[in-house]
Parts: sequence; structure tokens; C-alpha cells
Amino acid sequence: MSTDPAIDSDLRQRPGLRIPRHLGVIMDGNGRWARARGKPRTEGHIAGVKALRRLVELCIRYGVGHLTVFSFSSENWTRPRDEVNFIFGLLRRFVASDLEKLVRNNVQVRIIGSRQGLDDSLQRLIAEVEAKTRANTGLQLVVAFNYGGKAEITEAVRAIARDVAAGRIAPDAITEATVEQALYTSGIPDPDIIIRTSGERRFSNFLLWQGAYSELIFVEENWPDFDETTFLRVLEEYAGRERRFGGIEAIT
Ligand code: FPP
Repeated sequence: MSTDPAIDSDLRQRPGLRIPRHLGVIMDGNGRWARARGKPRTEGHIAGVKALRRLVELCIRYGVGHLTVFSFSSENWTRPRDEVNFIFGLLRRFVASDLEKLVRNNVQVRIIGSRQGLDDSLQRLIAEVEAKTRANTGLQLVVAFNYGGKAEITEAVRAIARDVAAGRIAPDAITEATVEQALYTSGIPDPDIIIRTSGERRFSNFLLWQGAYSELIFVEENWPDFDETTFLRVLEEYAGRERRFGGIEAIT
């Protein structure tokens, strides 16, 4: 059992719940949440950041090991320029305003995705948040930003091809572990659960390799409405699922 004081062991052991080691979330529906309230889409994204803070706190209390959130996909560049700028600004503000709290709560932050298209100041900020939280041993918060699963696998293939061309590895020696080590998520266990909010039922290029055996849980709430009640419903649903990883016996 964990001895981390931030983890509430009574909550963790609540009957009927199973705590995932790694939770992935496709945070969807900010725009619809705002529209339903007659507000601009940007208000939906601001409420989305609040929901993210809530989920980080829940993951700390319940002792989830890794949380990966999809916050900007490589396809999101097709949105209006103003909205793209706004989301980039939110990442900056999230990092700037929450860094101290993340450090205090022993959270380690990793930002995965392509650095291409991110300006120098944002890249410096990402490097800073990663460096300042690297030694933390609690929740690992993985923010998928400018991320696409196909692009990630393509980059990994390129890196491995370079190793082959340089004679560092023979083609027949390439294994699944070789590919895993070349992904952005190297060293992070695969997600046990991938949640998507807002009733949509797609992967949308999120953790394509890593999600091969994840339990997919779709919730109807838009992302800004995701709260502890939704979180507990997800954990209960997960507890009821039988994971076989292609085999025939349940793995607990
Ligand atoms: C999902 O709703 C929105 C996004 C994936 C982008 C913005 C994400 C956040 C504000 C959460 C935290 C972000 C950061 C940077 C820390 P949508 O715009 O796709 O909603 P819609 O499908 O209803 O239009």
C-alpha cells in the first residue's frame, strides 16, 4: 500500500472501485458546453481548464499513477487562428499559475507531442515545467499537446530507421520494445482506461499504440462538467470490466 500522504487510502479502498495505474482522457465538448450556455467557445476552454485541475486533484487523492490528457491535437491547427492562440495561451497560463501547486503536490509533469510549430518561449516554458517537476514522485501528469498518435509512430519509425542506417540495430532485432522506447511515452505504462467525454466515440488519433488494450469508457457529459461523480462512475465501470489482453482468463 502506498505511503504517500496525499493519497486518501480510505477512498482508494472503497468497495466497487478499481484504481487504474494510468488514466487517459480525451477532453471533448468544451465548445458545446459553452454554446449550450450562450457563451463564446473560449469560455468553454476556460471551464475545461478548471475541470482539468479538478481531475488532477482527484487523481492525487485516489492514487492514480499517471494521467494523460489530450489538450491539443496536431489536427486542431485547422481551428480558427484566434482559438488556436487562445488554447496556447491557456497552456501557458496553466503552467504559470499551477506550477507551484504541482510542485507542492509532488506532481511530475511531462508534455508529449511535436515541438514543431511551438514558438521558442513556449518550448522554454515546457522545458522549465518538466525540469522543475522531474524529481517529483507522485502523480505523473502527461499533457498531450500538439500531439497525434500517427505522427508519434511516424517519428518513432524515423528514429529507428536512422539507427538501422547507422548500423546500430539490425532490422530483424526490432521488437515491440524497440518501438515503445522510441515513442514519446517511453517508460510510461500503457493506459488502463481511456475516457472520452461529450458522447463522441472515437480515438481521434490519441495514444494509438499505447491504447491497444485500454478499456474505453465514453461519458455523455461535456468535459467542463466532468467532476467527482463522473470520475467515480468511470472507476466503477472499470471495476466491472474483465481485462483479458487477448487471452482467455481475467487479469486482475
Ligand atoms: C475540447 O473541446 C477542447 C480541446 C481539446 C482543447 C482545449 C482543452 C482545454 C482547454 C483543457 C485544458 C487545456 C490545456 C492547454 C491545459 P472542443 O473544443 O473540441 O469542444 P466541441 O467539440 O464541443 O467543439
